[in-house]
Amino acid sequence: MGEGSLIVVGTGISPVGQLTTEAIAWMRRADKVLYIVSNPVSVAVIQDLNPRGAESLVGLYADGKLRTDTYEEMVERVLTCVRAGQLTCLALYGHPGVFAYPSHEAIRRARREGYRAQMLPGISAEDCLFADLGVDPKTGCQSYEATDFLLYRRPLDVSSAVILWQIGAIGDWTYKQERYDLSALPLLVERLLPFYSEDHEVCLYQASTLPGCEPTIRRLPLKRLAEADIPPSMTLYIPPARPPEVDEAMVERLRALRAPQGGR
Ligand SMILES: C[S@@+](CC[C@H](N)C(=O)[O-])C[C@H]1O[C@@H](n2cnc3c(N)ncnc32)[C@H](O)[C@@H]1O
Repeated sequence: MGEGSLIVVGTGISPVGQLTTEAIAWMRRADKVLYIVSNPVSVAVIQDLNPRGAESLVGLYADGKLRTDTYEEMVERVLTCVRAGQLTCLALYGHPGVFAYPSHEAIRRARREGYRAQMLPGISAEDCLFADLGVDPKTGCQSYEATDFLLYRRPLDVSSAVILWQIGAIGDWTYKQERYDLSALPLLVERLLPFYSEDHEVCLYQASTLPGCEPTIRRLPLKRLAEADIPPSMTLYIPPARPPEVDEAMVERLRALRAPQGGR
């Protein structure tokens, strides 16, 4: 057994085509590949890459159990392998560092204990959203976790887009295998209505996880959101409600910088 180390990789939203060559190489090489993916194709790909070392951590979830408790157990399982001297690969779907506590925490703890730990980027649900909805974050994009957005007084700029993650689990801290209790959805609509008209069109988005399948894109007026049936793997996209305000004073200052200098 060598010196333990940790490499965290993402499998993309659709493993066929979105798994990077770097992630594949690490999964092949690792002594242990601990994975948190639900898609059966991803499971098959990981098992095929490392038949001896692949181990799913999904079994640590349980109906009604606090997700934070499960995350803690996941982190400790990862650290147990690292401490045992194994080259440990933690593979998460999407980008492994996007809305993912166990990956960041496992890296923090491994480094604190003196082990080498690194994360590689992957393709997240947000990356798929930009492609499938044809939107470009260049005009501004705020990305919040839906429950966090309800709990904190986050600023909201309606001249740029808003992406709310985990809308299908809003207000529910426990794990549910099927559907979450969405009784907090009306609170989200209430929180948004001072900023948007009730007819403002929002979009429930689910990227395809299988090659050849289309994404699910459901557009609806904001007032209808509270009644929507939302699976856990959906993301809410709210397009801007108005163009941004120009800062005329800054325009003038920029112009002055570019103006030809006289006197020479
Ligand atoms: C715990 S986060 C994990 C995100 C993941 N690490 C990533 O990079 O996309 C789970 C949330 O990601 C979003 N998500 C996951 N799969 C998705 C999909 N197929 N389409 C759209 N959003 C998805 C949803 O907002 C879901 O509640």
